[in-house]
Amino acid sequence: MNYLNRVSDLASKGSLNPALDPNRRERSVADVVGASRNGFKPLPLKADPDSTLVFATEPTGLAAEQYRQLRRNLIEHYPEGATLLVTSPAQAEGKTMNAINLAWCLAESGAPTLLFEADLRRPAVAQTLRWTVPQGVETALSGEVEPKAVVGAADHLPLHVAAVSKPVKDPGQLIKGAGTRRFMDWARGQFRWVVVDAPPLLPAADALELCPLTDATLLVVRVRVTPRELMERSFQLLGSRLRGIILNEASLCWDSYHRYLAHYYGPRSK
Ligand SMILES: Nc1ncnc2c1ncn2[C@@H]1O[C@H](COP(=O)(O)OP(=O)(O)OP(=O)(O)O)[C@@H](O)[C@H]1O
Ligand SMILES: [Mg+2]
Repeated sequence: MNYLNRVSDLASKGSLNPALDPNRRERSVADVVGASRNGFKPLPLKADPDSTLVFATEPTGLAAEQYRQLRRNLIEHYPEGATLLVTSPAQAEGKTMNAINLAWCLAESGAPTLLFEADLRRPAVAQTLRWTVPQGVETALSGEVEPKAVVGAADHLPLHVAAVSKPVKDPGQLIKGAGTRRFMDWARGQFRWVVVDAPPLLPAADALELCPLTDATLLVVRVRVTPRELMERSFQLLGSRLRGIILNEASLCWDSYHRYLAHYYGPRSK
């Protein structure tokens, strides 16, 4: 697959000290390991060979390694784990693809991780994972069911997913309602990492509503697609909440760099 994700500048985006967060309770290893055991619905992980789910298709490839670098940065800044909002200025810039791969990568390290699909407007997680969602996350956000009832758990790694099943009438109301807050509080207590796949930042208020419920915001920018003005507007809106930028599809402009690294990292030719 011809793409490369590059993560820049997580470290330089200001002070990142989760120990200063009064909402973060200490979690013991027993707590977090317990979260990855049974009681959740089964989540079969399937991917087509040409899927963008790199941990299924090319787990030793360059793109997977870029996610592992991001994971390294995140663990350094948030040794106890964190809740991460993944958004982008506009639509179709790669939020869902990056949120799933990042969650998969975090789970790969053994840390119980939840991918929470909070884009109730254009949900795509179920389709990307080819998962028939038994109980949509929207039912937990509306208070119909308990949070645990909407979470699926993979069997070979501690990856958990809460995805949308059906479109809702008023997504904005649901996102800013008490149910979303309750869901995030629950998730924060159960999982070491929570990756929130959010709607785009600029067309609706949802992502900004979700920002204060999370520890850090990562902004996906699609190289040669996202207009500079929209990036600047996003930086203004997010301010100090912005902790990192994911450059999506960066290989288009760094092709020689990509080839050089791929040559180094790929299997030796005989
Ligand atoms: N780096 C990439 N390489 C190849 N395809 C990609 C890449 N990033 C995204 N895509 C493809 O672009 C499309 C949009 O990606 P994705 O759904 O992740 O974007 P999004 O920002 O979540 O969109 P939306 O705003 O609709 O929620 C998908 O078909 C996805 O597979
Ligand atoms: Mg999406």
